[in-house]
Amino acid sequence: MRKTVIAGNWKMNMTPAATTEFITTLAPMVAGKDKCDIVLCVPFVDISAAVKAAEGTNIHIGAQNVHFEAKGAFTGEISAEMLTAIGCEYVIIGHSERRTYFGETDTTVNLRTKAALAAGLKVILCVGEVKEERLSGITNEVVTMQTKLDLAGISAQELQNVIIAYEPVWAIGTGLTATPEQADETCGVIRSALAGLYGEEVAENTVIQYGGSMNDKNAAELLSKVNVDGGLIGGASLKTDAFTAIVDAANA
Ligand code: 13P
Repeated sequence: MRKTVIAGNWKMNMTPAATTEFITTLAPMVAGKDKCDIVLCVPFVDISAAVKAAEGTNIHIGAQNVHFEAKGAFTGEISAEMLTAIGCEYVIIGHSERRTYFGETDTTVNLRTKAALAAGLKVILCVGEVKEERLSGITNEVVTMQTKLDLAGISAQELQNVIIAYEPVWAIGTGLTATPEQADETCGVIRSALAGLYGEEVAENTVIQYGGSMNDKNAAELLSKVNVDGGLIGGASLKTDAFTAIVDAANA
């Protein structure tokens, strides 16, 4: 039985002080709502404050990227060991904003995923098609290819610590949401790709989230779909009310 995972991706928002205030406010609002796992993926500089504020709560803390090398001359990068050392549990890898603006490829996504898993992090691996690909009718091929390339060389056992986030790029930050049917269908395509790689049982046990303008209004319907096991939430994760409403939808 898959557990629903509701994760916020704060992107480049919030200072450490704002992080402490946010989590201190959020914690009682989501206390005991344990039908889903709750994760906040915050900027690197906010992780320590987030871990401290979340201590003793049901909120888990993640980062938004990680480098694939253990250490060395990689100016501006952060290693997996640095993240685990400060209590970080999760990391988002391969977000479309990293792919689009920072030259992330399936090869580097794969390397980062392997490094994160080896260090004991849980990975939220993002895949998704751009608008032209959906309009051309090649969404299924795109997400299948990304899934296969990004997970190359990763074992079924390691996959237990991987969540896939299906994020159609055209739905991110645009207010356009995939319909529940589109989200369900494409998450199902990703599950089929996983079945091809790891077998049916592993595929059935893997959490696949939807992300892209998920909010307090549309979450319940999206989460009601059989292949949608949670959400990766950008804008609405920056508001305690909206984020709590999404957690509530996952606990209904
Ligand atoms: P929005 O919820 O702001 O569309 O962002 C989605 C996203 O990119 C989460 O990673």
